[in-house]
Amino acid sequence: MKQDNKEYMKYNLSYDLNEQSLISPLDSISPLFEPKIRLGILASGNGSNFEYIIKSIQTKQLYAEISILIVNNPNCLAIKKAIKYKIPYVIINHRDCKSRFEHDMLVMKKLEDFSVELVVMAGWMRIVGEEIINKFENRLINIHPSLLPSFKGVDAIQQAIDKRVTITGCTVHYVQKEVDSGLIIIQAAVPINENDNKETLKKRIQNMEHIILPLAIAKVAKNLRTKFKDNK
Ligand code: GAR
Repeated sequence: MKQDNKEYMKYNLSYDLNEQSLISPLDSISPLFEPKIRLGILASGNGSNFEYIIKSIQTKQLYAEISILIVNNPNCLAIKKAIKYKIPYVIINHRDCKSRFEHDMLVMKKLEDFSVELVVMAGWMRIVGEEIINKFENRLINIHPSLLPSFKGVDAIQQAIDKRVTITGCTVHYVQKEVDSGLIIIQAAVPINENDNKETLKKRIQNMEHIILPLAIAKVAKNLRTKFKDNK
């Protein structure tokens, strides 16, 4: 069937929109603050978000230094990135601990030893306990590959595909006791295309994660610095 011009225009417009992603809040430029914020990064996997935090520091979009990378998995690729960029790292393997509590305590001690101000869970595939959450109240953030509060927990990208939602995305949020439930700092929306599979969608979501996570860190750091000034 021949489409009339109007239909064709409409199709073109929606096609173009399909290629776009949206970050919100829209005014999300990296805010300025000083002094530098000392970050502790927790990672379990490939470490692509970890690497983009490093890059945003190198390009001076983020005024921070990474005091320590903590990984729970001795085989995770984040370690290779720490070596490449000469970032201190430590492996705290949860399999060597008798309980989640013991593991949490070791992680917390390391964060304190390195005077970490802001903790970033960048692909940390473990639930953190109340002790860490309380110790780093308003200073512990997580990135999750969905538009929370949809698709909490494991395999969020597959959950979105299975539900046939047409827009998903990623979220940076504060960490609280209930998993993936803390207050939201910044989100990016990513359309799901008809021919997407988990890998193609994951790639586009992660492209957005690499933008919003450094932005979120800067926003939180700015808040922490402002609060500190007000208390003086
Ligand atoms: C990221 O996509 C992050 O959103 C996800 O793990 C990936 C880590 O990638 N986190 C979660 O699913 C937490 N529930 P990376 O190791 O390449 O940064």
